[in-house]
Amino acid sequence: MLLKKSGSLVVVLLLTGSGVLVQAGWSVAHSPGTVCALQGASVVLPCTYTYPSPYQVMKTIWFGVFNKQETNLESLSEYSGHWTYIGNRMNNCSLRITDLKNSYALEYRFRFETDISGGQFTGKPGVQLLVTDLQVMVNPDTVTEGQSVILTCSTTCTLTGSPAFIWYRDGSPLPFTNQSHLFTASREDRGNYTCAVKGYEHLPSSAVILSVTYGPKDTSLSVSPSGEILEGSSVTLTCSSDANPPVQRYTWYKNNRALASWTGSGLNHAITNIVSEDSGQYYCEARNQNGAENSSAVTIDVQYAPRNTLLSVSSSGKILEGSSVTLTCSSDANPPVQRYTWFKNNRAVASWTGSGLNHTITNIVSEDSGQYYCETQNQHGTQNSSAVTIDVQYAPKNTSISVSPSGEIMAGSSVTLTCSSDANPPVQRYTWFKNNRAVASWTGSGLNHTITNIVSEDSGQYYCETRNQHGTQNSSAAVTIDVQFAPKDTSVSVSPSGEIVEGRSVNLTCSSDAKPPVQRYTWFKKNDTGVWQAGSGQSLNFSNFRSWNRGQYYCEAQNRHGAQNSTGLTVSYAAVANYKHDLAYIITGTCALAALLIVIVLAVCRRCHSVKEAKLNTEILQDAACAVYANVPGRTASTAPPGKTVPGKEEAEHSNVQRPHSQDQEEVQYASVQKPAPPGEEDVQYASIRFSRSGAAPRSTVPASEAVIYSTVAKGNT
Ligand SMILES: *[C@@H]1O[C@H](CO)[C@@H](O)[C@H](O)[C@H]1NC(C)=O
Ligand SMILES: *[C@@H]1O[C@H](CO)[C@@H](O)[C@H](O)[C@H]1NC(C)=O
Ligand SMILES: *[C@@H]1O[C@H](CO)[C@@H](O)[C@H](O)[C@H]1NC(C)=O
Ligand SMILES: *[C@@H]1O[C@H](CO)[C@@H](O)[C@H](O)[C@H]1NC(C)=O
Ligand SMILES: *[C@@H]1O[C@H](CO)[C@@H](O)[C@H](O)[C@H]1NC(C)=O
Ligand SMILES: *[C@@H]1O[C@H](CO)[C@@H](O)[C@H](O)[C@H]1NC(C)=O
Ligand SMILES: *[C@@H]1O[C@H](CO)[C@@H](O)[C@H](O)[C@H]1NC(C)=O
Repeated sequence: MLLKKSGSLVVVLLLTGSGVLVQAGWSVAHSPGTVCALQGASVVLPCTYTYPSPYQVMKTIWFGVFNKQETNLESLSEYSGHWTYIGNRMNNCSLRITDLKNSYALEYRFRFETDISGGQFTGKPGVQLLVTDLQVMVNPDTVTEGQSVILTCSTTCTLTGSPAFIWYRDGSPLPFTNQSHLFTASREDRGNYTCAVKGYEHLPSSAVILSVTYGPKDTSLSVSPSGEILEGSSVTLTCSSDANPPVQRYTWYKNNRALASWTGSGLNHAITNIVSEDSGQYYCEARNQNGAENSSAVTIDVQYAPRNTLLSVSSSGKILEGSSVTLTCSSDANPPVQRYTWFKNNRAVASWTGSGLNHTITNIVSEDSGQYYCETQNQHGTQNSSAVTIDVQYAPKNTSISVSPSGEIMAGSSVTLTCSSDANPPVQRYTWFKNNRAVASWTGSGLNHTITNIVSEDSGQYYCETRNQHGTQNSSAAVTIDVQFAPKDTSVSVSPSGEIVEGRSVNLTCSSDAKPPVQRYTWFKKNDTGVWQAGSGQSLNFSNFRSWNRGQYYCEAQNRHGAQNSTGLTVSYAAVANYKHDLAYIITGTCALAALLIVIVLAVCRRCHSVKEAKLNTEILQDAACAVYANVPGRTASTAPPGKTVPGKEEAEHSNVQRPHSQDQEEVQYASVQKPAPPGEEDVQYASIRFSRSGAAPRSTVPASEAVIYSTVAKGNT
């Protein structure tokens, strides 16, 4: 056998000596000689061979070299089903191995045998198979944004065929295909990286994390709930930020000032029961080790219904009619007051609605007085101000005077004058005018003035003047007071005076004080035979006086309020004058009267301290003494011889004296007393004058109802 194979032996020697198949025509070649392939992938180990013709290849064998020992793959169960000879019997000897495992990483050799003895050949060295997996290398694996990072999809050998790499971050393919990639890290680059080989995308590497740290970004402040924030509600502020590592500290700012008390409250801050003071611009600062960022500002606008609604009046103090007054309704509200409603005396003033927060009353009048308030409203509620009283003041107006009772005013009655006026403040002083002269004594008597027991002197035109601090006004019209009274002081006068001589003409005149004036006069005559009506009219005229005309005359004066009789006036008749006794009577009577007067005057003066009064009395008495011939009947007649001093007069004229109307308001009563005269002798007429005092003060030694009887003795012609 050795001999048979001597030729082969030579060949073997040649091969061994050079390391190259030098025997002409016999060779096995691998290109490339080393194949690097991916674990799990399939690989073709390239192989070609040559041999001299016309030999024929009979057998092909692939060996794996384990510890320098060639082992036929067919005998290795580990390879069962994982390899295929894809060559032929001509010159192609390629081998496919699928589903590569690390254990397949060996040197593989091809051997073929031909039909000639010794014509067999093994390729040495064979082809080297390397198996690798993929591993992502991140260097460094933690970077700060901005730093460089290199990514490498590392293999233990250089993959045959320089395949493209495919990169994935978090499962998404990346746009670069190099085995190594150098870049500047940004926070977007953080993630899980894997790599694969094109064509073997199903065989990716395991994932490797690239961690990028960065300062807070996209910091924002949000408010929840969003929308309108009503006072009293709760609100949560949230500061969100993208940061790696996560935000380590939040700082809150309100209106650019840090809220110290909120620091440390985390990314949320809740404001419960929010109040308007919480309104403002808020932002937050998020900070980690890499930096800080402020959010943009968020405005919190806490809304609330109107409050502190206040009504103010432009003019402080007194408001005078005609002035301008502005009412201002102020209120604190958010959103601002949307509607103002004005109230006067609790009723809405419709015409003022919409006039805004100011309302001006120009030329204010008293009707504008009242209680005012305003109501403010926004979408959250309403509020009323407290009320303000406007009191429009003005000088008196519509001043008028009236008298009560109306109609005729009788003397002695009571009358009230009323001065009414509209004034604000009320009238402070009333001034009364009578016949255009102020009545000083009435000032201060108020708006009513009562005249009790009115007398005719109170008649006149009255008006009043009202005054307050703003002015005065006179009553628009005056009232006329016309005091009426029944006839009084009715008296009869005779012309000519003295004794009437037969045939003469005599006029009797009735005078009386009356309001309205006397409407009817009636004359009466009284003589021995009776009382006779003697005529009417103010005067009673006798053109030819006769004896039967003598008598006592009196008149009655009448108006619609009543009638009054005068005292009687005795009209005497003298046919012949014989006065021989008269002088004695007169002297005697005068002396007696003088004595009596002295007594009276002394008594009066002693009692009365009023000089004036005394004087007056004296005057009265003097008047009486001068005008009256008086005698005390019965006594003086005997002491004084009659008929001496007044010659030619036989009859004395008897006249009654009316006491002048004095301030004492004495009632004067007249009574005639007729004494039966001795036949043929004298006619004696008695007239008594009675002074009866109606005043309260007893004032004299003269008894209150002292009756002094005066009588004139008219002597007949004896
Ligand atoms: C050998 O044959 C295989 C399969 O037919 C083929 O893919 C390969 O290219 C051939 N090799 C050469 C060098 O001709
Ligand atoms: C955020 O705002 C505050 C106050 O204005 C300021 O002091 C701080 O520096 C700001 N922070 C940043 C990161 O700009
Ligand atoms: C304000 O006053 C008006 C009228 O008196 C009344 O109707 C209304 O309810 C009041 N508003 C408030 C808030 O009290
Ligand atoms: C004036 O007063 C009277 C009585 O009080 C009244 O009737 C009248 O209307 C008033 N006139 C004016 C203008 O006020
Ligand atoms: C004034 O008089 C009137 C009517 O006479 C009366 O009603 C009124 O009360 C009086 N006023 C005063 C203050 O006396
Ligand atoms: C009466 O006399 C008076 C005074 O002489 C005279 O005025 C008057 O007219 C007379 N009356 C009559 C009715 O004659
Ligand atoms: C009294 O008066 C009447 C009427 O005048 C008269 O007729 C009568 O004569 C008179 N009597 C005496 C006594 O004079």
